[in-house]
Amino acid sequence: MASSILTLISFIISFTLYLVSTSAITPAAPPGPIPGPLPGYGPIETNGKKYAYVCDPARFTALNLDVKTFSYCNTTLPFSARVKDLVGRMTLQEKVLQLGDYAQGAPRIGLPVYKWWSEALHGISTVGQGPRTSPSHATYFGDVVPGATSFPTPLLSAASFNETLWNQLAQVVSTEGRAMYNLGHTFLTFWSPNINIARDPRWGRILETPGEDPFVVGRYSVNFVRGLQDVPGRVVPPNLNERPLKVSACCKHYGAYDVDQWFGIQRITNDARVAEQDMVESFNYPFEMCVKEGDVSSVMCSYNKVNGIPACADTKLMSQTIRGDWKLHGYIVSDCDSVEVMHDAQQWLGDTPEESVMRAMRAGLDLDCGSYYTDHTVAAVQQGKVRESDVDNALTNLYTVLMRVGFFDNLLEYQKLGTESICTKENIELAAEAARQGIVLLKNDNSSLPFNNMTHSHIAVVGPHANSSKPMLGNYAGVPCRYITPLQALSADARVEFDLGCDVWCHNQAAKDHAKQLAMTTDATIIFGGIDLDVEAEAHDRWDLNLPPDQITFITEVAEAAKGPVVLVLFSGGGLDVTFAKNNSKINAILWAGYPGNDGGKAISDVIYGRQNPAGRLPITWYPSQYTEILPMTSMKFRPVEELGYPGRTYKFYDGPVVYPFGFGLSYTQFTYNLSLPQNSSVVDVKLGPDQKCLAVEYKPNTQVPPSACAAVKIADTNCNQSINLDLRVTNAGKVDGSHVIIVYAKPPQYIAGAPIKKVIAFQRALLKVGQTQYVQISVNVCDALGLVDKSAYQILASGQYTIEIENGDIVANVTLPVNFN
Ligand SMILES: *[C@@H]1O[C@H](CO)[C@@H](O)[C@H](O)[C@H]1NC(C)=O
Ligand SMILES: *[C@@H]1O[C@H](CO)[C@@H](O)[C@H](O)[C@H]1NC(C)=O
Ligand SMILES: *[C@@H]1O[C@H](CO)[C@@H](O)[C@H](O)[C@H]1NC(C)=O
Ligand SMILES: *[C@@H]1O[C@H](CO)[C@@H](O)[C@H](O)[C@H]1NC(C)=O
Ligand SMILES: *[C@@H]1O[C@H](CO)[C@@H](O)[C@H](O)[C@H]1NC(C)=O
Ligand SMILES: *[C@@H]1O[C@H](CO)[C@@H](O)[C@H](O)[C@H]1NC(C)=O
Ligand SMILES: *[C@@H]1O[C@H](CO)[C@@H](O)[C@H](O)[C@H]1NC(C)=O
Ligand SMILES: *[C@@H]1O[C@H](CO)[C@@H](O)[C@H](O)[C@H]1NC(C)=O
Ligand SMILES: *[C@@H]1O[C@H](CO)[C@@H](O)[C@H](O)[C@H]1NC(C)=O
Ligand SMILES: *[C@@H]1O[C@H](CO)[C@@H](O)[C@H](O)[C@H]1NC(C)=O
Repeated sequence: MASSILTLISFIISFTLYLVSTSAITPAAPPGPIPGPLPGYGPIETNGKKYAYVCDPARFTALNLDVKTFSYCNTTLPFSARVKDLVGRMTLQEKVLQLGDYAQGAPRIGLPVYKWWSEALHGISTVGQGPRTSPSHATYFGDVVPGATSFPTPLLSAASFNETLWNQLAQVVSTEGRAMYNLGHTFLTFWSPNINIARDPRWGRILETPGEDPFVVGRYSVNFVRGLQDVPGRVVPPNLNERPLKVSACCKHYGAYDVDQWFGIQRITNDARVAEQDMVESFNYPFEMCVKEGDVSSVMCSYNKVNGIPACADTKLMSQTIRGDWKLHGYIVSDCDSVEVMHDAQQWLGDTPEESVMRAMRAGLDLDCGSYYTDHTVAAVQQGKVRESDVDNALTNLYTVLMRVGFFDNLLEYQKLGTESICTKENIELAAEAARQGIVLLKNDNSSLPFNNMTHSHIAVVGPHANSSKPMLGNYAGVPCRYITPLQALSADARVEFDLGCDVWCHNQAAKDHAKQLAMTTDATIIFGGIDLDVEAEAHDRWDLNLPPDQITFITEVAEAAKGPVVLVLFSGGGLDVTFAKNNSKINAILWAGYPGNDGGKAISDVIYGRQNPAGRLPITWYPSQYTEILPMTSMKFRPVEELGYPGRTYKFYDGPVVYPFGFGLSYTQFTYNLSLPQNSSVVDVKLGPDQKCLAVEYKPNTQVPPSACAAVKIADTNCNQSINLDLRVTNAGKVDGSHVIIVYAKPPQYIAGAPIKKVIAFQRALLKVGQTQYVQISVNVCDALGLVDKSAYQILASGQYTIEIENGDIVANVTLPVNFN
């Protein structure tokens, strides 16, 4: 019965380094010389032969060069000295040929081609055009690498709220990437993850993101980036520019980018009008975490303008913020063809091509995905618009990263990885596990789920996604190891009657009647509905949040006809207004399965037949479709705009009706909570310095404000070293074991104008056996948790009564916490 385990979970949300434990996935360093994984394969091609690394002496000999005379190949020197030597050897013409994603190399000095553009959003992807001038891509599948593990798209993995999973998943992706590199199937710089905030529910790329909350997105990015980049045991050398990288990650798209193609508004010309408050509090927040806590080695600037300036030509965004304030150790790359876009589509400032190059490079853009730098930089230098030292600076940032990933020497840890490291049983199992952990149970009337194979032994499996394979991968996919479709997986649990009934648009009537027939004659019906890349995609935002109308009719008719219980499984990235199904008593259960990856069908069947107790929680708000009728996608403000009647955005600023709220998800068991503050930290007393200034705070009209000598202080001026400690006991009070996601919010004093309704300050996923009570200690820094961003974009801490609460749709536990200054 009740066993109680004491678990100490502490959250330290501070901008210090986050250390990742070493993992069994990383193989030990092999002894001996450098063989390369298979004879005849290798990432670097020189005179028709393949080599494992640039500084292979045999490679230099093949070029009639002596490697000993090139100190950029001298491994006893620091990377900084080696890069200086390399860049110093190049002529201006040679330098400029290395500034595009297809870096053409300089055989004269032993430098080979490097293809910068690869992607690894949820597995090694085929996206990444690589060379514009030759047919082969930076990443390709075929011969010895027919496929790689395809994880769920990030929004579904994000729904697990499991930081360990996010990190492990990325470790597997980078192991497969490194193995593919050894086999000459990809390079080492992956332009992932996508960490733009899902600000508007219509955005076509929400599936690629970890959701709408800046803190959750930030934690996802830190874990994912560390999973891709960190070499265990070599995480913190004194100089982070010398830190080796397993592969290089890239946080994108910076900044304030989340309009793709909406009623004629194009991402390449959109001018995002953004208040500095929203920039600091929301748009930039995950990027700041990605750079400072994730120590990412690259950031990509976006196509759009921010307040009139193209992001890739914005000195404040790039040089001052990313490099200056956040101290990036790495390079800045443009979204593909952004520099050309500045000139052609935006015709920004009426610049010549050389002037566009000048603005981008002087603002801090190191690499142009495209050929605009390559085509125009020599002339820009000749015209005196770009200094050769600016070019050297960009190349130094670029080659330092290529030194760190071992392009020149190879990394001992990863030399032996080959085909046997790709699509392993364990990797494929982790892809299924990510989907299982992320799937969200939205409705479960009368505990209709889980099914069991005795009473639900003959089932109807219908609907557009009932046998989906490729659609399970979403976008930025590679070639998967295999597929396990819903139909295939469920066929192991029951005798299945199958008919798609219709596709996502459901225009075709023919098969509908047969699907209804099957529902009428079986124990239970599972309808696989939702949307796909036809509805939401890059360069394609949505019109509304409904399912296609004919699909709604189909689902309703099949449910009406069904003899047994009906389960609706939804595939989507962005939220869906499924009020019709939520309200329909014939539809007993609803599951959201995102785009669940190559083994998605397996994960879904595990949830339906109870081998997995669902614990995923929505990482975005599911709004009613009317929301999109009262608010243009281009209004960038998070707070409501009263004079225009615009509601707020995300759970932090929107408190109108929802279909399902941010953070919502049911379980097959019940959890109870007991939350308290330890006696010695039930009040926060912040000591002010002798000369510290107090700030005024704007209050909501007609609210009672308790008197206070000091309304607020600037966090930058405050010694904010206290933490909030919470004592939380969670009990599994139901009948099955299950994981549970605890999401902790802080609510600022109600009378402060413009403050968020609430914000996530911590989250933790915990596994609880039936009857088990877990003691969860949560500790967060006061200023990180309770700080606000004021209208002038200052981070402030206000005095007053805060509420700390735990929610799952409703408030399930809360405590109040006064903050005083003295
Ligand atoms: C490599 O650099 C070290 C340190 O400067 C130097 O002592 C050594 O001679 C160099 N090796 C070669 C082959 O030049
Ligand atoms: C299911 O639960 C609803 C209330 O939520 C109840 O009205 C209905 O009778 C139940 N149906 C069955 C089959 O138990
Ligand atoms: C039915 O489910 C039970 C319990 O999960 C399992 O032990 C059994 O093997 C299943 N039977 C079939 C035919 O799948
Ligand atoms: C289901 O999809 C798989 C994979 O695409 C395919 O091989 C199989 O034929 C499909 N099954 C049916 C019944 O259509
Ligand atoms: C759904 O049910 C709610 C609550 O019963 C009701 O207010 C709403 O009008 C219903 N909506 C639809 C579209 O049926
Ligand atoms: C909650 O915990 C407190 C302190 O540990 C205890 O006194 C109280 O009885 C608990 N309440 C419930 C409902 O378990
Ligand atoms: C509060 O008391 C606990 C237990 O005695 C102790 O571990 C903790 O350090 C104290 N915290 C503060 C802020 O004094
Ligand atoms: C916080 O800082 C003050 C002043 O530097 C110091 O006296 C105090 O011990 C610190 N408290 C903690 C918990 O670090
Ligand atoms: C989090 O994910 C890891 C990796 O899959 C898993 O081992 C662990 O059990 C998960 N934690 C919970 C509480 O579900
Ligand atoms: C949360 O706090 C409010 C008042 O502060 C109280 O009315 C409510 O019952 C609390 N909710 C829970 C679940 O404790």
